[in-house]
Amino acid sequence: MSAPLPSDPATDPSFPDMLETRPSLKMDARDGLLFEGVPLHVIAAAVGTPCWITGAETLRRRAKALRAAFEARNLPMNMHFAMKSQDHQATLIILRQCGYGVDIVSGGEMQRALHAGIQPSGIVFSGVGKSDAELRAAVEHDIAQVNVESVEELYRLDEIARACGRVARAALRVNPDVDADTHDKISTGRAGDKFGIEHRRAVALYGEAASLKNVRLVGLAVHLGSQMLTAGPFREGYLRLADMVREIRAAGHSVEAVDCGGGLGIRYRDEIAPSPDMLAGVIAETLGDLDVRLSIEPGRWLSAPTGLLLTRVIETKAGNPDFVVLDAAMNDLARPSLYESWHGIMPVAPSGLTSPTKLWDIVGPVCESSDIFARDRALPADTKRGDLTALLDTGAYGSVMSSTYNSRPFAVQVLIDNGKWEIIRQRQSVEDLIAAETVPKWLTAKDDHG
Ligand code: LLP
Repeated sequence: MSAPLPSDPATDPSFPDMLETRPSLKMDARDGLLFEGVPLHVIAAAVGTPCWITGAETLRRRAKALRAAFEARNLPMNMHFAMKSQDHQATLIILRQCGYGVDIVSGGEMQRALHAGIQPSGIVFSGVGKSDAELRAAVEHDIAQVNVESVEELYRLDEIARACGRVARAALRVNPDVDADTHDKISTGRAGDKFGIEHRRAVALYGEAASLKNVRLVGLAVHLGSQMLTAGPFREGYLRLADMVREIRAAGHSVEAVDCGGGLGIRYRDEIAPSPDMLAGVIAETLGDLDVRLSIEPGRWLSAPTGLLLTRVIETKAGNPDFVVLDAAMNDLARPSLYESWHGIMPVAPSGLTSPTKLWDIVGPVCESSDIFARDRALPADTKRGDLTALLDTGAYGSVMSSTYNSRPFAVQVLIDNGKWEIIRQRQSVEDLIAAETVPKWLTAKDDHG
C-alpha cells in the first residue's frame, strides 16, 4: 500500500502537488486552506480541534463517478458502500440518495443502515463470525443477501431461517487464494487469510446447499483486499470466480449473482491509483458475459478523499529529530501506527505554501512511540504552537477506527455541504466516558468504613 514510515523527503509530494490532486482542497491567499470552499480556520475556531471534516459534495461527486464508469460500459451494477469505512448517518443518507445500498459486517452496522433509511433490499451482510443474533436480524429484516463465510455459517443460517419460518438468500464468499498485492494487514483473499470458503471446497458446497430448505444460494461473493492498486489481482480473482460459476452451472445449479467486493485503491502519496474505469473494464472482461446480477462493495475509494482531520500544534520540541506534537493522536487516526500508512499533512495558514520548510517528525500526545503520523516530513520551518494542520484523506477508516485510549474522548465531526457547515457529531466529554462506567458498591464501601 502507501509508502511506509518514514516517508522519503526526496520523493514526497510538495504542498502544491497535494492540492493539485485533490479538487476539494484550495489554498486561499487570505483564508488559508479551504475544504469544499470553507476556510478550515473558521471551523477550528468554532468547534476546536482535533476535528473530523467530511465533504458532502466530494462524496456525491465520487459516488456519481463510480456509477458512471459502469454505465459507460452498459454494465448494470449494484453499488453497496462498505460502511465500515465511514458509518455516519449523514454519509449513509447521502449515498442512499445517490442510489447506493450498503455492505455491512455487523448487526450494529445493519441497525445504522436501516436507521439511515436504507432498504433491506439494499443491504448485503459480509464478515467472518456473524453471531446467531446477527443472522437472525438479517433473516427477520429480509436483507438482500448474506455472504456466508464458512460451512458452519451456512448450516447455522439455515437453522435460524427455519426457526423464523423464512428462506434466507445467501452467497458463498469464496477465498480464491489470490494475493491482492497490498499491505499484509488488509489482504483478505489469500489461502491463509481467515476470510471466505476455500475455493476448491466452494463448488461442492454450492451443490450440497441445494438441499437446504431455508437457504437459497443466489451466487458467489469475493473480496480480495483493500487499497489495491493494480488490475492483475482483480482479474485473477474474478477469473477464478467466473470459472466457478461455469462449474456450478455445469453441475446443474443456478447462479444468479456475483458480488465482486471492494478494494479499489486511492492515491495517498504518489501511487498511480487505478480508475473506476479500470475496475469496470476488468469486471466486464471477466464476468460481463455470465448473465449474472453484479455488485461491488467499495469503501475507501468513495470515502477516503471526502475527509480530513484538522489538528492544532500543541508544541514543537527541539531535538534530533525535531518534533511537531499535534493535538490529534493515534487514538483518533490509527492508520499510520497500524499500517505505516502515509497521509498528506498540510499547513492551514496561507503562508504555508510559501514558507521555507524543514523536516519534522509529526507525532501525537499518546504515551506510545507508535503514536507517530510521519517521520522526516516537510512542514514550514517556523511551525509553532497553535498552528493548524490538516491530515488528508482520512474519510475512510479514520473516525470509525478511533478509540478513547489515554482517556481521549472521540473528536467532534463536521459536515460541509455547498458552503454550509454543521457539527454532525459532538465532541465526546470525559464525563461521557466516566458516566458509562459503574463501580461495584463493595469498592466504595471500603472508603466509608476506613
Ligand atoms: N467488502 C468487504 C467484505 C471488506 O472486508 C471490505 C474491507 C470492503 C468491502 C471495502 O474495502 P475497500 O473498498 O474499502 O478497500 N482499516 C483498513 C482497511 C480494512 C478493510 C477491511 N475490509 C485501512 O485503514 O486501510
